[in-house]
Amino acid sequence: MILVTGGAGFIGANFVLDWLAQSDEAIVNLDALTYAGNLQNLASLAADPRHIFVHGDIADSTLVAGLLAQYQPRAIINFAAESHVDRSIHGPEDFIQTNIVGTFRLLEAVRAHWNGLNDETKQGFRFLHVSTDEVYGSLAKDEPAFSETRRYEPNSPYSASKAASDHLVRAYHHTYGLPTLTTNCSNNYGPYHFPEKLIPLMIVNALAGKPLPVYGDGQQIRDWLYVKDHCSAIRRVLAAGRVGEVYNIGGCNEKPNIEIVHTVCALLDELHPLPTYHSPLTTYRSLIAYVTDRPGHDRRYAIDASKIEHELGWKPAETFETGIRKTVQWYLDNQSWVSNVQSGAYRTWVEKNYQGRS
Ligand code: NAD
Ligand code: DAU
Repeated sequence: MILVTGGAGFIGANFVLDWLAQSDEAIVNLDALTYAGNLQNLASLAADPRHIFVHGDIADSTLVAGLLAQYQPRAIINFAAESHVDRSIHGPEDFIQTNIVGTFRLLEAVRAHWNGLNDETKQGFRFLHVSTDEVYGSLAKDEPAFSETRRYEPNSPYSASKAASDHLVRAYHHTYGLPTLTTNCSNNYGPYHFPEKLIPLMIVNALAGKPLPVYGDGQQIRDWLYVKDHCSAIRRVLAAGRVGEVYNIGGCNEKPNIEIVHTVCALLDELHPLPTYHSPLTTYRSLIAYVTDRPGHDRRYAIDASKIEHELGWKPAETFETGIRKTVQWYLDNQSWVSNVQSGAYRTWVEKNYQGRS
């Protein structure tokens, strides 16, 4: 079996669902169920013995050591993290705790376990760390996309904490020989995306008739990847990636934020038109509101995914046009999922983040 951390979050849950849809290899899923963790994402696995959910923290060394000893996983995939840049600006501490201390404790527990394995099991073992393109910093307009050898220049507390975790993973390979793999991925989108991030926030706000807050001039560029393509890339790296290597994963879909928002509005206009009595609004676009920019906002990310394509034969299956249509349709079909995640804690966060932005 494999051990996944953070498997109740957005990408982790998609990964667990995809994995069990194509394989009978069981998953132990360790998740602390922070505000971003949601067992509803895994409701379809409630009676599936191949999914073993454990509520706990990656920084709990005793718990992790016990799980490794009990289940003897052949691989660990570390998704667990604090993941939202805006939250890291308001309060970096949790990011330091989970992304740095948590990854360190996880690595220590895994190293101790791995040292005790027999030679054959040791060789086949993998620790795959899921990271982000944000560790590379911001690209100028005409600069080439991030390759794996690009220097690290993290600009937010979130990206700095992920950069630190990447360095720890690298060090555990070089110093102790732990068989690690690291993936640095661009912006994901798709089902179960928590509605604090750009795309789900725009869909959810539009459907509620609320403003669509675009930071600054809306010309910041992100490279969008459909989450299921990210999952297939991780499976591929786990299966065939070279130990100690880093693989960048991206969708080849660079788009300015304002274009993303326009696309979401156009799809909603088509799939869920505003009622005619809702005058004076005829299009969701009328809800767009430019607000004060995110401090230290990175201007552009873009991934050069040629290494994973050439070495491992991976390519995304979705175009942005097909992926975003599926995503908008998923939110339309799953409005009860959205209302369930909109807990009191979520509302407090929204007030804190957008209060004072003119
Ligand atoms: P998310 O915030 O949706 O989910 C994170 C999950 O980790 C949640 O289920 C949460 O409960 C869990 N978690 C948090 N702290 C934990 C702890 N101490 N112990 C155990 N579990 C804990 O995040 P996501 O968007 O699914 O991102 C998953 C990973 O992918 C993160 O490492 C993130 O940095 C990385 N990543 C995300 C994106 C993206 O666009 N979302 C892109 C590239 C990389
Ligand atoms: O690049 C990978 C990263 O992508 C991941 O490592 C992070 O975990 C993930 O959250 C994401 O980070 P971003 O900061 O790029 O994502 P977010 O959805 O928060 O913002 C996307 C862009 O949209 C960014 O330029 C900020 C802008 N934005 C965001 C929000 C929430 C707005 O204009 N308005 C908003 O209300």
